[in-house]
Amino acid sequence: MSKTTSLFSLLLLSILALTQLAVHSVPEHAPSLEITNETKVWKVMTSLGKVNVNVLDKDRPSSKTKGEQLVTRGYTSSFKGNKTALTSKKLFCVACHTTEKEHPNANNTSPQSRLEYGDSMSIPFLPGAPFYGLINRVAFFTNDYQNIFAHKNRLALQVGHRDIRKAIQACNTLYAKGRTLDAWEIESIVAYLWTLELKIGDLNIPDNIIQVAEEAIKTNKDNARAVNLMRRYYKEVYPASLVLPLPVEERNLISPVLNNFSNGKKVYKQSCLHCHAGKRYSNFKLDRAQKTFKFLKKHFDLPTRYSIYDAVRYSPGSKGNKNNIPHYTEQRMSNKQLQDLRFYITQKAKLGAEADNYYKHF
Ligand code: HEC
Ligand code: HEC
Repeated sequence: MSKTTSLFSLLLLSILALTQLAVHSVPEHAPSLEITNETKVWKVMTSLGKVNVNVLDKDRPSSKTKGEQLVTRGYTSSFKGNKTALTSKKLFCVACHTTEKEHPNANNTSPQSRLEYGDSMSIPFLPGAPFYGLINRVAFFTNDYQNIFAHKNRLALQVGHRDIRKAIQACNTLYAKGRTLDAWEIESIVAYLWTLELKIGDLNIPDNIIQVAEEAIKTNKDNARAVNLMRRYYKEVYPASLVLPLPVEERNLISPVLNNFSNGKKVYKQSCLHCHAGKRYSNFKLDRAQKTFKFLKKHFDLPTRYSIYDAVRYSPGSKGNKNNIPHYTEQRMSNKQLQDLRFYITQKAKLGAEADNYYKHF
């Protein structure tokens, strides 16, 4: 080796050593993250060291497109190209779950805010918790589902409490009255749900908190505090209270002063008609004919299967709901909304199409 080549290789070696050193001196977590409205909430949280619970299993085949098809039309094609069986005879996921934001502020889950926003955006008002942001949740079928839900398959929901895949399986067999989904189908649904994850812009979060998070990520200090501050701006779990139908003696308390016709109309359109119009997701048909409203009105306070109170409130598997009729928890539809619906139905039964004119300016 000549003197120059050996000098050269020495130089090369030291450069190599230096770069090695440089690699080792980088701290283990990402050095910094510029948070914008488009930044994913999970990206921020995991950069702060929070453990992500719903990660996609890379060892299982999955496809977000197939997942979306399963959710929205109830079937897809397998990886071999064969059409799958329907997930359920009629009740596909989108019968009961929305895939769009139910409100521009992820922290606002109030039924009234969601109904108004949904009505303005043509987003239905449904019993299932929304799929948008579902992947950011850490537990499923919470509260009363774990305690007082009395279905014979309640164990399925309980094992789904901390496991998104089991929650999906449980929901499809119990609520959708569907078949057992294959592992790749569930993984595909999880992959699809990852396309609906929360972004920072969905949170009504003040700039100073964003700065706290950025600073914590940069310095790797006070991470837990930053995580706890961030968590206040969206729902990690959706609370669920199962309520019984309003007692009969409280139902009759409706009046133009207490109740809102146009609100009841919104409930009828965004909820009831979503599934019952043209028997879309149900075998029981509802429409805007006066006859239909008269029928519903007649059954309000009777202990029959056509009482709107019983249909909406009794939970599947209970004495009042043997048919697994999708019910609403208190958080998904309030009693005030149900009373507004009663008012709407009553007026439509009485006045028919005239009712809409009459209450236009109320
Ligand atoms: C017939 C109605 C219905 C159908 C169809 C349906 N679900 Fe649900 N689902 C519900 C209800 C009701 C809940 C409970 C919501 C609550 O009160 O928080 C729920 C809850 C869930 C949850 C837990 C959400 C949470 O935050 O607690 C998951 C996950 C879920 N469903 C997945 C699915 C998937 C995937 C499908 C389609 C394969 C599906 N569901 C079909 C009604 C339905
Ligand atoms: C997510 C879909 C969905 C929504 C939303 C929905 N229903 Fe239903 N409803 C069903 C299904 C499914 C059944 C069970 C009967 C069947 O399979 O057709 C049912 C049953 C009923 C029944 C009993 C009919 C029978 O044959 O036993 C009534 C009454 C009823 N619904 C009224 C309503 C009203 C009023 C609303 C609005 C507040 C509403 N439903 C919202 C899906 C829905």
